[in-house]
Amino acid sequence: MTPLDYEFLRKLLKERSGLDLSPDKQYLVESRLIPLSRKVGLPGITELVQKMKTGSDALTSEVVEAMTTNETFFFRDKVPFDHLRDTMLPALLQARASRRSLRIWCAASSTGQEPYSIAMCLKELGAALAGWRVEIIGTDLSQAVLEKSKAGIFSQFEVQRGLPIQLLVKHFTQVGELWQINPDIRAMVQYRQLNLLHDFTQLGTFDVIFCRNVLIYFDQETKAGIFERLAKVVEPDGFMVLGAAESVVGISDAFRPYPERRGLYRPNATRAVRSGAAAPQVLRSVAAAR
Ligand SMILES: C[S@@+](CC[C@H](N)C(=O)[O-])C[C@H]1O[C@@H](n2cnc3c(N)ncnc32)[C@H](O)[C@@H]1O
Repeated sequence: MTPLDYEFLRKLLKERSGLDLSPDKQYLVESRLIPLSRKVGLPGITELVQKMKTGSDALTSEVVEAMTTNETFFFRDKVPFDHLRDTMLPALLQARASRRSLRIWCAASSTGQEPYSIAMCLKELGAALAGWRVEIIGTDLSQAVLEKSKAGIFSQFEVQRGLPIQLLVKHFTQVGELWQINPDIRAMVQYRQLNLLHDFTQLGTFDVIFCRNVLIYFDQETKAGIFERLAKVVEPDGFMVLGAAESVVGISDAFRPYPERRGLYRPNATRAVRSGAAAPQVLRSVAAAR
């Protein structure tokens, strides 16, 4: 790969997926794109770049997908799921008691372990959610991970990472050497392809947004823009959850940290009142309820 090839790829990846590669990440690009070059019958990255320059959109998508990091596992970091069970769901069950509906968005859902972990948490609530309309939407840039998510089939290794044995026995069926998540949990999650760099208002508004371990790959300006847009689709009394290495602090005031709950945020009502982004009366009553 020549320095010019690398510059071309850096620019393309930043525009297409938000991935912000520092100048010293050639090794990462090579480790991901040399196998892709071989797969598509090209000798190396220079030829791959040449072919992309001739306008092969399908190949460009393959390159963007190959450069995404899809690392995930069930109940990753545990704490966010404790917050879901102990803080978010109790607050929302009360706040939505008359409407009896909940919408949760998992904004970079990778191969499905995160939205299915959320679904299992909700299932544990049992009768408390009887008669409620619950929607969990998993979205990701990569079509390949979405296909795997929809199938809900995981290897022995994958179910051994983070998933308590009682939940494995309760919610999965062994199929040969693999494990398939049971239809009741699978049906709780819908999947859609979505690039966080693009408009997502068509998804509607959410009570909870999990947006974990994806913004870490973006630069500050891209993160700030996404926080702004996330704040527009989270309910004024809703929640946002970030990954362990992510924060809004110093990047955006669209959200504020929830006290004593690491990784948990709420939209910043005071700021919304100032900017007039929502009816002041609604925001005052939400602020008062906090
Ligand atoms: C490291 S995984 C995180 C998965 C899960 N949220 C977790 O914390 O375990 C990051 C995911 O973000 C997706 N991704 C990367 N850039 C994206 C973008 N611009 N829009 C949507 N998803 C993106 C990748 O395809 C990948 O599946």
